[in-house]
Amino acid sequence: MAELLKANKKGLLKASNLIKNGRQVAFPTETVYGLGADARNDLAVAGIFKAKERPSFNPLIIHFCDLTLINKYVCLDDSTIKLAEAFWPGPLTIVCKLKKNTNISSLVTSGLNTVGIRIPSNKIALEFIRLCNTPIAAPSANRSGKISTTTSEDVINELGSVIPAVIDGGRSEIGLESTIIDVSTPKPTLLRHGGVAIEDLERVLGEINSVKEGTILNSPGQLKSHYSPDTRLRLNAQKRRDNEVLLGFGVPNADLNLSTKGNLIEAAANFFSHMRLIDGLAKNIGADRIAVSPIPNLGLGLALNDRLRRAAYRS
Ligand code: TXA
Ligand code: MG
Repeated sequence: MAELLKANKKGLLKASNLIKNGRQVAFPTETVYGLGADARNDLAVAGIFKAKERPSFNPLIIHFCDLTLINKYVCLDDSTIKLAEAFWPGPLTIVCKLKKNTNISSLVTSGLNTVGIRIPSNKIALEFIRLCNTPIAAPSANRSGKISTTTSEDVINELGSVIPAVIDGGRSEIGLESTIIDVSTPKPTLLRHGGVAIEDLERVLGEINSVKEGTILNSPGQLKSHYSPDTRLRLNAQKRRDNEVLLGFGVPNADLNLSTKGNLIEAAANFFSHMRLIDGLAKNIGADRIAVSPIPNLGLGLALNDRLRRAAYRS
Protein backbone atom coordinates (compact mmCIF):
# COMPACT_ATOMS: atom_id res chain seq x y z
CA MET A 1 0.00 0.00 0.00
CA ALA A 2 1.26 3.50 -0.85
CA GLU A 3 2.88 5.41 1.99
CA LEU A 4 1.29 8.79 2.72
CA LEU A 5 4.21 11.23 3.05
CA LYS A 6 3.91 14.53 4.90
CA ALA A 7 4.96 17.56 2.87
CA ASN A 8 7.80 18.39 5.29
CA LYS A 9 11.54 18.13 4.74
CA LYS A 10 11.69 14.46 5.73
CA GLY A 11 8.70 13.47 3.57
CA LEU A 12 9.89 15.38 0.53
CA LEU A 13 13.41 13.95 0.84
CA LYS A 14 11.98 10.45 1.00
CA ALA A 15 9.83 11.20 -2.06
CA SER A 16 12.77 12.56 -4.04
CA ASN A 17 14.89 9.52 -3.11
CA LEU A 18 12.17 7.24 -4.44
CA ILE A 19 12.27 9.19 -7.74
CA LYS A 20 16.09 8.93 -7.84
CA ASN A 21 15.68 5.16 -7.42
CA GLY A 22 13.40 4.97 -10.45
CA ARG A 23 10.11 4.73 -8.56
CA GLN A 24 6.85 6.69 -8.98
CA VAL A 25 5.45 9.22 -6.48
CA ALA A 26 2.10 11.00 -6.55
CA PHE A 27 2.33 14.68 -5.62
CA PRO A 28 -0.04 17.63 -5.28
CA THR A 29 -0.23 20.44 -7.82
CA GLU A 30 -2.57 23.43 -7.95
CA THR A 31 -4.56 21.72 -10.75
CA VAL A 32 -4.85 18.03 -9.81
CA TYR A 33 -2.51 15.44 -8.24
CA GLY A 34 0.19 14.11 -10.60
CA LEU A 35 1.91 10.72 -10.71
CA GLY A 36 5.58 11.58 -11.18
CA ALA A 37 8.71 9.75 -12.29
CA ASP A 38 12.15 10.71 -13.64
CA ALA A 39 11.47 11.74 -17.26
CA ARG A 40 14.93 10.48 -18.32
CA ASN A 41 14.41 6.95 -16.99
CA ASP A 42 12.55 4.59 -19.36
CA LEU A 43 11.73 2.02 -16.70
CA ALA A 44 10.51 4.64 -14.23
CA VAL A 45 8.26 6.17 -16.90
CA ALA A 46 7.02 2.74 -17.96
CA GLY A 47 5.95 2.29 -14.33
CA ILE A 48 3.59 5.27 -14.67
CA PHE A 49 1.89 3.73 -17.71
CA LYS A 50 1.59 0.41 -15.90
CA ALA A 51 0.14 1.89 -12.70
CA LYS A 52 -2.44 3.95 -14.60
CA GLU A 53 -3.08 1.30 -17.28
CA ARG A 54 -2.52 4.17 -19.69
CA PRO A 55 -2.17 3.55 -23.44
CA SER A 56 1.43 4.13 -24.48
CA PHE A 57 0.49 6.40 -27.41
CA ASN A 58 -0.57 9.06 -24.92
CA PRO A 59 2.39 11.38 -24.13
CA LEU A 60 3.13 12.81 -20.68
CA ILE A 61 3.68 16.38 -19.50
CA ILE A 62 7.10 17.20 -18.04
CA HIS A 63 7.18 19.31 -14.87
CA PHE A 64 10.03 21.67 -14.00
CA CYS A 65 10.65 23.89 -10.97
CA ASP A 66 12.13 26.81 -12.95
CA LEU A 67 13.32 27.84 -16.41
CA THR A 68 16.99 26.86 -16.02
CA LEU A 69 16.64 23.17 -16.89
CA ILE A 70 13.91 23.72 -19.48
CA ASN A 71 16.37 25.39 -21.82
CA LYS A 72 18.33 22.17 -22.04
CA TYR A 73 15.40 20.23 -23.47
CA VAL A 74 13.22 22.49 -25.60
CA CYS A 75 13.59 25.39 -28.01
CA LEU A 76 12.29 28.45 -26.19
CA ASP A 77 10.78 30.54 -28.99
CA ASP A 78 9.12 33.95 -28.58
CA SER A 79 5.64 32.56 -27.93
CA THR A 80 6.88 30.18 -25.24
CA ILE A 81 8.79 32.95 -23.48
CA LYS A 82 5.79 35.29 -23.56
CA LEU A 83 3.50 32.57 -22.20
CA ALA A 84 6.01 31.55 -19.54
CA GLU A 85 6.36 35.14 -18.33
CA ALA A 86 2.60 35.59 -18.15
CA PHE A 87 1.44 32.26 -16.72
CA TRP A 88 4.29 30.35 -15.01
CA PRO A 89 4.36 29.13 -12.41
CA GLY A 90 0.74 28.13 -12.99
CA PRO A 91 -1.88 25.97 -14.74
CA LEU A 92 -0.60 26.19 -18.32
CA THR A 93 1.12 23.42 -20.33
CA ILE A 94 3.04 24.51 -23.41
CA VAL A 95 3.70 21.99 -26.18
CA CYS A 96 6.95 22.94 -27.91
CA LYS A 97 9.62 21.38 -30.10
CA LEU A 98 11.92 19.01 -28.27
CA LYS A 99 15.65 19.55 -28.88
CA LYS A 100 17.49 16.72 -30.68
CA ASN A 101 19.40 14.10 -28.71
CA THR A 102 18.06 14.91 -25.27
CA ASN A 103 17.98 12.13 -22.68
CA ILE A 104 14.19 12.38 -22.25
CA SER A 105 12.57 8.93 -22.47
CA SER A 106 10.73 8.46 -25.76
CA LEU A 107 7.89 6.96 -23.72
CA VAL A 108 7.27 10.47 -22.35
CA THR A 109 6.81 11.95 -25.81
CA SER A 110 5.30 8.83 -27.45
CA GLY A 111 8.02 9.35 -30.04
CA LEU A 112 6.69 12.80 -31.07
CA ASN A 113 9.18 15.62 -31.75
CA THR A 114 7.24 17.87 -29.37
CA VAL A 115 6.85 17.81 -25.62
CA GLY A 116 4.37 19.32 -23.16
CA ILE A 117 6.03 21.25 -20.33
CA ARG A 118 4.85 23.19 -17.31
CA ILE A 119 6.04 24.83 -14.09
CA PRO A 120 3.32 24.31 -11.48
CA SER A 121 2.69 26.97 -8.83
CA ASN A 122 2.02 24.62 -5.91
CA LYS A 123 4.85 25.19 -3.39
CA ILE A 124 5.06 21.53 -2.38
CA ALA A 125 5.31 20.45 -6.03
CA LEU A 126 8.07 22.99 -6.68
CA GLU A 127 10.11 21.87 -3.66
CA PHE A 128 9.65 18.20 -4.54
CA ILE A 129 10.78 18.76 -8.16
CA ARG A 130 13.73 20.85 -6.99
CA LEU A 131 14.90 18.06 -4.66
CA CYS A 132 14.54 15.45 -7.44
CA ASN A 133 16.87 17.58 -9.56
CA THR A 134 15.51 16.07 -12.78
CA PRO A 135 12.56 16.76 -15.11
CA ILE A 136 9.48 15.04 -13.70
CA ALA A 137 7.09 13.35 -16.14
CA ALA A 138 3.62 13.29 -14.62
CA PRO A 139 0.13 12.59 -15.87
CA SER A 140 -2.85 13.09 -13.57
CA ALA A 141 -2.82 10.54 -10.72
CA ASN A 142 -5.87 8.47 -11.68
CA ARG A 143 -6.50 5.24 -13.54
CA SER A 144 -6.57 5.95 -17.27
CA GLY A 145 -9.93 7.33 -18.40
CA LYS A 146 -11.22 7.77 -14.86
CA ILE A 147 -11.89 10.79 -12.66
CA SER A 148 -8.81 12.91 -11.81
CA THR A 149 -7.74 13.23 -8.17
CA THR A 150 -7.65 16.42 -6.10
CA THR A 151 -6.77 15.03 -2.64
CA SER A 152 -4.21 12.50 -1.37
CA GLU A 153 -7.09 10.30 -0.10
CA ASP A 154 -8.51 10.07 -3.61
CA VAL A 155 -5.07 9.10 -4.94
CA ILE A 156 -4.75 6.36 -2.32
CA ASN A 157 -8.20 5.04 -3.21
CA GLU A 158 -7.43 5.17 -6.91
CA LEU A 159 -3.80 3.99 -7.11
CA GLY A 160 -2.77 3.12 -3.52
CA SER A 161 -2.20 -0.55 -4.29
CA VAL A 162 0.11 0.06 -7.27
CA ILE A 163 2.39 2.97 -6.30
CA PRO A 164 4.90 3.34 -3.43
CA ALA A 165 4.04 6.82 -2.10
CA VAL A 166 1.82 9.90 -2.17
CA ILE A 167 2.80 13.34 -0.85
CA ASP A 168 -0.08 14.86 1.09
CA GLY A 169 -0.73 18.44 0.04
CA GLY A 170 -4.40 18.85 0.95
CA ARG A 171 -6.88 19.81 -1.76
CA SER A 172 -5.79 21.04 -5.18
CA GLU A 173 -6.68 24.71 -5.28
CA ILE A 174 -7.87 24.98 -8.91
CA GLY A 175 -9.25 21.47 -9.28
CA LEU A 176 -9.09 21.17 -13.11
CA GLU A 177 -6.07 20.22 -15.19
CA SER A 178 -3.85 22.77 -16.92
CA THR A 179 -4.81 24.41 -20.19
CA ILE A 180 -2.69 22.99 -23.03
CA ILE A 181 -1.49 25.17 -25.90
CA ASP A 182 0.67 23.92 -28.78
CA VAL A 183 3.17 26.54 -29.98
CA SER A 184 4.98 24.15 -32.34
CA THR A 185 2.32 24.81 -35.01
CA PRO A 186 2.56 27.92 -37.29
CA LYS A 187 -0.30 29.44 -35.33
CA PRO A 188 -0.61 28.48 -31.63
CA THR A 189 -3.32 25.86 -31.13
CA LEU A 190 -5.42 25.18 -28.06
CA LEU A 191 -5.37 21.46 -27.20
CA ARG A 192 -7.19 21.38 -23.87
CA HIS A 193 -9.34 23.80 -21.91
CA GLY A 194 -8.16 24.15 -18.33
CA GLY A 195 -7.03 26.43 -15.53
CA VAL A 196 -6.07 29.38 -17.80
CA ALA A 197 -8.90 30.90 -19.86
CA ILE A 198 -8.51 31.29 -23.67
CA GLU A 199 -9.21 35.02 -23.43
CA ASP A 200 -6.16 35.38 -21.18
CA LEU A 201 -4.00 33.41 -23.62
CA GLU A 202 -5.17 35.58 -26.51
CA ARG A 203 -4.35 38.73 -24.57
CA VAL A 204 -0.72 37.56 -24.56
CA LEU A 205 -0.40 35.85 -27.96
CA GLY A 206 -3.02 37.49 -30.14
CA GLU A 207 -5.39 35.16 -31.94
CA ILE A 208 -4.92 31.44 -31.37
CA ASN A 209 -6.36 28.49 -33.28
CA SER A 210 -9.20 28.11 -30.92
CA VAL A 211 -12.21 25.96 -31.14
CA LYS A 212 -15.84 26.43 -31.75
CA GLU A 213 -18.15 25.63 -28.90
CA GLY A 214 -18.63 21.90 -28.39
CA THR A 215 -15.71 20.83 -30.61
CA ILE A 216 -13.70 17.92 -29.29
CA LEU A 217 -10.07 19.09 -29.08
CA ASN A 218 -7.50 16.64 -30.37
CA SER A 219 -4.49 16.31 -28.19
CA PRO A 220 -3.40 12.64 -28.55
CA GLY A 221 -4.70 11.63 -25.15
CA GLN A 222 -7.90 13.64 -25.28
CA LEU A 223 -10.16 10.68 -25.76
CA LYS A 224 -13.85 11.27 -26.29
CA SER A 225 -14.58 9.23 -23.19
CA HIS A 226 -12.61 10.39 -20.16
CA TYR A 227 -13.07 11.37 -16.50
CA SER A 228 -15.78 8.68 -16.35
CA PRO A 229 -17.85 7.89 -13.28
CA ASP A 230 -19.44 4.40 -13.21
CA THR A 231 -22.94 5.92 -13.32
CA ARG A 232 -24.16 7.52 -16.56
CA LEU A 233 -24.58 11.27 -16.77
CA ARG A 234 -27.36 13.45 -18.20
CA LEU A 235 -26.09 16.96 -18.93
CA ASN A 236 -27.89 20.34 -19.00
CA ALA A 237 -30.59 18.95 -16.74
CA GLN A 238 -33.09 21.52 -15.51
CA LYS A 239 -34.56 19.10 -12.95
CA ARG A 240 -33.98 15.75 -11.30
CA ARG A 241 -36.04 12.93 -12.87
CA ASP A 242 -37.03 9.60 -11.31
CA ASN A 243 -34.05 7.39 -10.47
CA GLU A 244 -31.60 10.28 -10.78
CA VAL A 245 -29.36 12.15 -8.39
CA LEU A 246 -28.73 15.83 -9.16
CA LEU A 247 -25.29 17.43 -9.27
CA GLY A 248 -26.29 21.08 -9.11
CA PHE A 249 -24.80 24.38 -10.14
CA GLY A 250 -26.42 27.47 -8.65
CA VAL A 251 -29.72 25.68 -7.95
CA PRO A 252 -31.43 24.83 -4.66
CA ASN A 253 -32.30 21.24 -3.65
CA ALA A 254 -29.53 19.44 -5.51
CA ASP A 255 -28.13 16.26 -3.92
CA LEU A 256 -24.73 17.90 -4.17
CA ASN A 257 -23.90 21.37 -5.47
CA LEU A 258 -20.75 22.28 -7.42
CA SER A 259 -21.45 25.83 -6.26
CA THR A 260 -24.68 26.96 -4.62
CA LYS A 261 -24.00 30.54 -5.73
CA GLY A 262 -23.18 29.54 -9.31
CA ASN A 263 -19.52 30.48 -8.94
CA LEU A 264 -17.35 28.85 -11.65
CA ILE A 265 -14.11 28.99 -9.66
CA GLU A 266 -15.74 27.20 -6.74
CA ALA A 267 -17.35 24.69 -9.13
CA ALA A 268 -13.97 23.92 -10.73
CA ALA A 269 -12.34 23.37 -7.35
CA ASN A 270 -15.14 20.97 -6.34
CA PHE A 271 -15.58 19.25 -9.70
CA PHE A 272 -13.61 15.99 -9.50
CA SER A 273 -14.24 15.36 -5.78
CA HIS A 274 -17.97 15.96 -6.29
CA MET A 275 -18.01 13.62 -9.30
CA ARG A 276 -16.62 10.89 -7.04
CA LEU A 277 -19.08 11.68 -4.24
CA ILE A 278 -22.16 11.83 -6.45
CA ASP A 279 -21.14 8.59 -8.20
CA GLY A 280 -20.84 6.96 -4.77
CA LEU A 281 -24.22 8.37 -3.71
CA ALA A 282 -25.90 7.14 -6.91
CA LYS A 283 -24.52 3.64 -6.34
CA ASN A 284 -25.52 3.68 -2.65
CA ILE A 285 -29.12 4.56 -3.28
CA GLY A 286 -29.41 2.63 -6.55
CA ALA A 287 -29.97 5.67 -8.81
CA ASP A 288 -29.27 4.85 -12.44
CA ARG A 289 -28.26 8.31 -13.64
CA ILE A 290 -26.53 11.50 -12.50
CA ALA A 291 -28.29 14.64 -13.77
CA VAL A 292 -26.04 17.72 -14.00
CA SER A 293 -27.28 21.33 -14.03
CA PRO A 294 -26.35 23.53 -17.00
CA ILE A 295 -23.03 25.33 -16.64
CA PRO A 296 -22.40 28.56 -18.58
CA ASN A 297 -19.88 28.22 -21.41
CA LEU A 298 -17.44 30.94 -20.44
CA GLY A 299 -14.16 31.17 -18.55
CA LEU A 300 -13.63 28.00 -16.48
CA GLY A 301 -17.12 26.90 -17.60
CA LEU A 302 -15.60 25.91 -20.97
CA ALA A 303 -13.16 23.59 -19.20
CA LEU A 304 -15.93 22.19 -16.98
CA ASN A 305 -18.26 21.51 -19.92
CA ASP A 306 -15.45 19.87 -21.88
CA ARG A 307 -14.84 17.45 -19.01
CA LEU A 308 -18.56 16.84 -18.53
CA ARG A 309 -19.04 15.97 -22.22
CA ARG A 310 -16.24 13.42 -22.07
CA ALA A 311 -17.47 12.03 -18.75
CA ALA A 312 -20.95 11.58 -20.28
CA TYR A 313 -19.69 10.00 -23.52
CA ARG A 314 -20.33 6.28 -23.92
CA SER A 315 -19.18 4.56 -27.10
O1 TXA B 1 -2.77 19.93 -14.79
C1 TXA B 1 -2.20 19.05 -15.43
O2 TXA B 1 -1.84 19.23 -16.61
C2 TXA B 1 -1.94 17.71 -14.73
C3 TXA B 1 -0.93 17.96 -13.60
C4 TXA B 1 -0.51 16.70 -12.91
O3 TXA B 1 0.16 18.68 -14.10
N1 TXA B 1 -1.45 16.73 -15.65
C5 TXA B 1 -2.25 16.16 -16.59
O4 TXA B 1 -1.64 15.18 -17.34
O5 TXA B 1 -3.41 16.49 -16.76
P1 TXA B 1 -2.45 14.15 -18.26
O6 TXA B 1 -1.44 13.16 -18.76
O7 TXA B 1 -3.61 13.60 -17.54
O8 TXA B 1 -2.91 15.02 -19.47
C6 TXA B 1 -1.93 15.54 -20.34
C7 TXA B 1 -2.46 15.69 -21.72
C8 TXA B 1 -2.76 14.38 -22.41
O9 TXA B 1 -4.05 14.51 -23.02
C9 TXA B 1 -1.68 14.29 -23.46
O10 TXA B 1 -2.12 13.63 -24.63
C10 TXA B 1 -1.35 15.73 -23.73
O11 TXA B 1 -1.43 16.34 -22.48
N2 TXA B 1 0.02 15.90 -24.25
C11 TXA B 1 1.17 15.63 -23.64
N3 TXA B 1 2.23 15.83 -24.45
C12 TXA B 1 1.72 16.26 -25.61
C13 TXA B 1 2.29 16.62 -26.88
N4 TXA B 1 3.60 16.59 -27.11
N5 TXA B 1 1.45 17.01 -27.85
C14 TXA B 1 0.12 17.06 -27.63
N6 TXA B 1 -0.48 16.73 -26.47
C15 TXA B 1 0.30 16.32 -25.49
MG1 MG C 1 -5.48 12.93 -17.04
